[in-house]
Amino acid sequence: MKHDVITDTDQTISGAVHVDRRHDSAEKHVTGRADYCDDIAEPYGTLHAYLGVSTVAHGLLKNVDLSDVLTAPGVVGVLTADDIPGHNDISPTGQKDEPVFPTEKTEFHGQPLFAVVAESRDAARRAAELARIDYDVLPHALDPVSAQEADYPFVTAPLKLERGETAPALEAADNRLKGRMQIGGQDHMYLEGHIAFALPGEDDDVVVHCSTQHPSEAQHMVAHVLGVPSNAVTVNVRRMGGGFGGKESQMNLFAAVAAVAAKKWNRPVKIRPDRDQDMTATGKRHDFVVDYDVAFDNDGRIQAVEGNFAARCGYSSDLSGPVTDRALFHADNAYYYPNVLLRSRPMKTNTVSNTAFRGFGGPQGVVAAERMIEEIAYALGKDPLEIRKVNFYGDKTDGRNLTPYHQEVEDNILPRLIKELEENSDYQARRQAILEHNAKSRIIRKGIALTPVKFGISFTATWYNQAGALIHIYNDGSIHLNHGGTEMGQGLNTKVAQVVADAFQVDFERIKITKTTTEKVPNTSATAASSGTDLNGMAALNAAEQLRERLVAFAAEHWNTEPETISFRNNMVQIGKDAVSFNDLVRQAYLARVHLSAAGFYKTPKIHWDRAAGRGRPFYYYAYGASCSEVSVDTLTGEYRVERTDILHDVGRSLNPVLDKGQVEGAFIQGMGWLTTEELWWDNAGRLRTHAPSTYKIPLASDRPREFNVSLAEWSVNKERTIKRSKAVGEPPFMLGISVFEALSMAVASVADYRECPRLDAPATPERVLLAIERLRNSG
Ligand code: MTE
Ligand code: HPA
Ligand code: MOS
Repeated sequence: MKHDVITDTDQTISGAVHVDRRHDSAEKHVTGRADYCDDIAEPYGTLHAYLGVSTVAHGLLKNVDLSDVLTAPGVVGVLTADDIPGHNDISPTGQKDEPVFPTEKTEFHGQPLFAVVAESRDAARRAAELARIDYDVLPHALDPVSAQEADYPFVTAPLKLERGETAPALEAADNRLKGRMQIGGQDHMYLEGHIAFALPGEDDDVVVHCSTQHPSEAQHMVAHVLGVPSNAVTVNVRRMGGGFGGKESQMNLFAAVAAVAAKKWNRPVKIRPDRDQDMTATGKRHDFVVDYDVAFDNDGRIQAVEGNFAARCGYSSDLSGPVTDRALFHADNAYYYPNVLLRSRPMKTNTVSNTAFRGFGGPQGVVAAERMIEEIAYALGKDPLEIRKVNFYGDKTDGRNLTPYHQEVEDNILPRLIKELEENSDYQARRQAILEHNAKSRIIRKGIALTPVKFGISFTATWYNQAGALIHIYNDGSIHLNHGGTEMGQGLNTKVAQVVADAFQVDFERIKITKTTTEKVPNTSATAASSGTDLNGMAALNAAEQLRERLVAFAAEHWNTEPETISFRNNMVQIGKDAVSFNDLVRQAYLARVHLSAAGFYKTPKIHWDRAAGRGRPFYYYAYGASCSEVSVDTLTGEYRVERTDILHDVGRSLNPVLDKGQVEGAFIQGMGWLTTEELWWDNAGRLRTHAPSTYKIPLASDRPREFNVSLAEWSVNKERTIKRSKAVGEPPFMLGISVFEALSMAVASVADYRECPRLDAPATPERVLLAIERLRNSG
């Protein structure tokens, strides 16, 4: 079709894409009129479920006595493994290592063992406390190091990435250093916690409303647990109050419990844990212990890297395979390693099973890469930025563009991006001023760091990179848009609707954004890996183009003209010299019996990945960014604040700059929180003691940088044919928070005159900062 085709390379589109547009639900969010799962009116007779959990970290279940639970006021019954009609398994990668409820042993403190179902949530919650469980307590391992010492197994097969030969390069190196860094985990702290609400239907049918990033998986899991085909189960989600990866697999438990109970009692059942239970019973970001061995020349150029990435994976595999893989994929960050050997160690531990969290293991890899750069800089007495620059990926011409997984970096825009940020943030002059300040200031010390990010876009499980959409045009001209992605606040629905409005050149308001449901688009992937817009935007465009083609073919025939003379403009359709309104065209098309509904589909081209060989092109493209942060540290207390942050981030040709900037700001703050104040702390019994906002500190509005300058690299255009040449934005800017961590490190190093790279683990809480300062003072 030649007429009016808006191709990806058309850079002159006016209208609904590449413009600022507020989130479609923004007003509803702030006025409380946005419906979340818990806002759905409960039919008469709705029951409420609550989880009863283990009180030991590892033990055989000797005797489970639920008699007091059953006789508690308002209780209708309990659910245990015995009540599961199908398979007692909700492991997302098919490893069969994650029961809904365990039968023989508990493997972490807080593990759900049964559910109480009662007339009210309060009754269920109180009754759940009344279980009497005898355990044969077994020894436990809580972290990856003690798990390795106790010979615990891997939860899933480890990955090795290798290129060149590291041993001789390390031997022959001018300089070589080894180190270890501990990197903490993170709780998702979405505002809306987990929730599922199941309504039984006739035969095997059940409808589950659930706060999930992955409705298809919830559907398939519920079917699997009920022992019914997937076509009996419908999962719906209009929106989440945040997911951040925490609802990619962790909803399975809640969806399954609600559905099993709903079918058992033939009444609607809702389950909503309180915040403490949400934090203890559902997975978090993986902590890592990284051991590195790096060789470099006297200019700081890296010659070889060996890295060992041990992760706390918790008691089951969940998504730990792809998460620890992604950590290795990002252990280079933006740097070329001529010889490299990286290994993952996905350790089983007696803790809640770790899961997806923004960046999906990537941030841990990037932190380790940045730590190595800092080590080299201190060893040579140079500015870390100088070391960063000499190690950046090059291009084909210098042969320095091959990643440890043998994918070529084809679109490296970091040199330009870094140069612009360095100038705009006035990095050099400010660093000089800070060095002078620190030389004079006894108590308040400052630090500054400018760190880059390169993040690979695509699911590394290649088959996940597909999406579907469904568009109906009703005969009044209104448009119903549905796709497989889920809305968690990131603005996906707004962007996809912009794409569709643009395709028809109609007002955005004409398009109805609808809930995600497994009934309209089947076999969807999680809205994850930052790929929601890339995948669903393309699928929706595909559906819109089919409809446009049909409308054009009809109009050409009806008005007796050539298709080339027909174009969509400003809610109108130009047909030769005449113009009709979009509504009129649709009406006429309907009367002529044109099919006004289309299903769209998209799969990402070019990608492939051979895990056994550690080679391929797992990523369609990379997103880039950089940030520069300045901090002040009180060296008497370890307290600190971020004085200023400048960010320049690459989203290709932004579909919606104001939404993308919101993502960049939010991700930066969340990344900063991960590396500074958010500390997960288990006691020796394996009990998570930071299980509520009272003890687990996410950043407050007052913790944002005093001066916060966020820009998008407006000149960037995705070289690949992504949706309107944009780039994914959800996760990459999370790693911009690393500049705060490294700036803190510089402020700490100043107390020993920058002679050594501080031993600073993440999160750099004020306590850790103070300890690092004390250590340096005492060693000096
Ligand atoms: N933004 C908001 N407001 N809430 C969220 O839960 N999740 C992040 C990111 N931004 C999240 C968010 C994560 S982990 C991912 S993978 C992407 O959004 C997913 O959405 P996208 O693929 O549509 O960008
Ligand atoms: N990112 C996020 N979620 C995922 C991925 C990934 O690469 N693979 C499977 N789930
Ligand atoms: Mo995001 S961790 O891929 O849900």
